[in-house]
Order: sequence, then C-alpha cells, then structure tokens
Amino acid sequence: MAVHVVDHPLVRHKLGIMRKHNISTKDFRELASELARLLTYEATKDLETEKRTIQGWSGPVEVERIKGKKITVVPILRAGLGMMDGVLDLIPGAKVSVVGLYRNEETLEPVRYYVKLANKMDERIALILDPMLATGGTLVLTVDLLKEAGCTNIRGIFLVAAPEGIRRLEEAHPDVDIYVAAVDEKLNDIGYILPGLGDAGDKIFG
Ligand code: PRP
Repeated sequence: MAVHVVDHPLVRHKLGIMRKHNISTKDFRELASELARLLTYEATKDLETEKRTIQGWSGPVEVERIKGKKITVVPILRAGLGMMDGVLDLIPGAKVSVVGLYRNEETLEPVRYYVKLANKMDERIALILDPMLATGGTLVLTVDLLKEAGCTNIRGIFLVAAPEGIRRLEEAHPDVDIYVAAVDEKLNDIGYILPGLGDAGDKIFG
C-alpha cells in the first residue's frame, strides 16, 4: 500500500485556508472541490494510454487516449459529495457509485444506509472520495463493498488522513493506495483528526 502525499504549493495553500475555524460554507465547499481536482490529477497519473491516428488540421496525426478500465468515482456520503464536482471536471465521463455511511458517534464504527454502485464494477477503477480518513472504519467497509462487487483496482482520495486510519487500511486492504493533501498528527478522544478540518460534512452541508 502507498500513501501519496501530494506535496504542491497550491495544495498546501488551499488546505491551509480550509483549516481556519470560522471558514464559510461557501469557501470550504469550493476549496474541497478544488483540492479534489488537484489530488485527482495525481491519482490518475499512472493510467495507461493507447495511441491512435486521427485526422488533424495538417493531415493524419498520432494522439493518445486513456486505455482500458473505465473509472467510477465513489463519493462517501455525505462529505464525499463535496469533492465530486472537482473530480468530474477532470473525468467527465466517469460513472458515479454512491456509498452512504455514517459513523456511530459512540462506537465510531460505520453504519451503512445506502449503497448504489455502477454496473460492471469488475471492469472499473474505483476512486473513493472522502475529505477525512480518521479511524479508517468507513474506508475499510467501503473497500469491502467494492471488492464484493468485483472491483480489483481501488484507490482513495482524501483531504486529510490520520495515521490511525492509514494503519487500519494497511492491515485490511494493503492493495489500496491513497492520495492525500496531508497526513495529520493523530485522532482525539472522540475520533476527530488533529489538527484536522473539524466536521467536514457539517462544513460542506451547513
Ligand atoms: C466522516 C468522514 C468520513 C468518516 C471518517 O463522516 O466524512 O466518512 O467520518 O471516519 P472514520 O475514518 O473514523 O470511519 P461522518 O460520519 O461524519 O458522516 P457525514 O459525512 O455524513 O457527515
């Protein structure tokens, strides 16, 4: 498993603004989408391309296009929806697979309430979207669901990840790579990432 921290001035700048305690819903939402776009650029860097010849303005020209597996983006409700538009800006043809999970506030374990995956999951690359990887319970269950549906190429995009969640993913699904804007310090007693972003769902939905 690899953790790709996308180390870029624009990413650090935008994430820094998102950490401000009184950031507006509008700004938080816009930045979540912008960061998702930048992380997607990195998360899709290894996609294979194939060559084909088209008719260009000066005659036949060889161009490249993405080859093979099609992509499905997998926003985890609710907060993952705040990243979806940014990702679809770059991959407009992607199918959307929706996974509805919330964390039980006492046990911190994920509770499933809605799952609707795209068809032919065995033929797709899944890009999971969620602003937060905290204990990792939500991500591990999401990967379980995707694998049950036959998906074999799964990667995740998060704005902020905690070391605890990374360890849990590594134990359960070492084949899944993640792309993050930052790995933060730790979780607090109630499972929030420190320094983190606070409750991303509430900040995006108000
Ligand atoms: C948050 C976050 C992740 C999950 C991470 O969602 O968006 O989905 O918690 O926690 P974990 O790694 O410990 O499982 P939340 O349960 O607050 O739901 P929401 O997006 O609907 O607000």
